[in-house]
Amino acid sequence: MLERETGHEPGAHAAGTPVRATPGDGVSAPDVARRKDTLRTRLLQARRALTPEQRAAAAEDLRGHVLELAQELRDGPVCAYLPIGAEPGSVALLDGLRAAGRSVLLPVVPPRPGPLDWAAYTGPDSLGPGPLGLREPTTPRLGPAALRTAVLVLVPALAADRAGRRLGRGGGYYDRTLGAVPAGVPVVALLHDGELLDEVPADPHDRPVTGVVLPTPGTVATGNNGRG
Ligand SMILES: Nc1ncnc2c1ncn2[C@@H]1O[C@H](COP(=O)(O)OP(=O)(O)OP(=O)(O)O)[C@@H](O)[C@H]1O
Ligand SMILES: [Mg+2]
Repeated sequence: MLERETGHEPGAHAAGTPVRATPGDGVSAPDVARRKDTLRTRLLQARRALTPEQRAAAAEDLRGHVLELAQELRDGPVCAYLPIGAEPGSVALLDGLRAAGRSVLLPVVPPRPGPLDWAAYTGPDSLGPGPLGLREPTTPRLGPAALRTAVLVLVPALAADRAGRRLGRGGGYYDRTLGAVPAGVPVVALLHDGELLDEVPADPHDRPVTGVVLPTPGTVATGNNGRG
């Protein structure tokens, strides 16, 4: 249910065409950009208000749901991420995937705007200091194409809706990356309860998710096959 049916590469912006948003060209309509920012502020405030106990309980529930989801998949790596602050997810989730026999790849932010690079997570010792005070893997960089080997892609998000629209933190990194996910591979956002919204504002460049995982209901398919 969470599968993509076909891949889709971001399109090039043809010279001489009027300046308007077309899939993949990265132009954000001003009203959409404003609505995204307003929503981000509200959602980040709500995340900050979560107590350490609530965050830990959510992380534990998400870990269980994701491990269950991963059991249904063929052999292959899982692309995941290291949560920052109150972001849903945990190192325990990464360790759980490894304990279940999965190799785990983590994103590495590229020096210039472009698709995310990837590197293996081989346990807590494989993490070191990265830019902006964040941790990142210290293992060799595998290049953006490593994403094409994944059988599941877990992505961070501030919110998503049932059409698969996803709101990130505003860097555009995942939007530049997810077009390379092979057809049929689920792209799943991890959320806190309350972050699956009726509608998330989206630009044509926004890459959809095929499903979300929330602490309480667990995995929910979005009805989007990942084509946009
Ligand atoms: N495919 C793309 N090509 C070029 N620029 C892009 C592309 N996708 C996004 N961008 C740029 O990134 C900016 C931020 O996009 P957006 O607000 O959708 O980020 P986001 O989805 O919240 O971030 P992320 O993808 O990192 O989670 C856009 O305004 C645009 O300038
Ligand atoms: Mg986006």
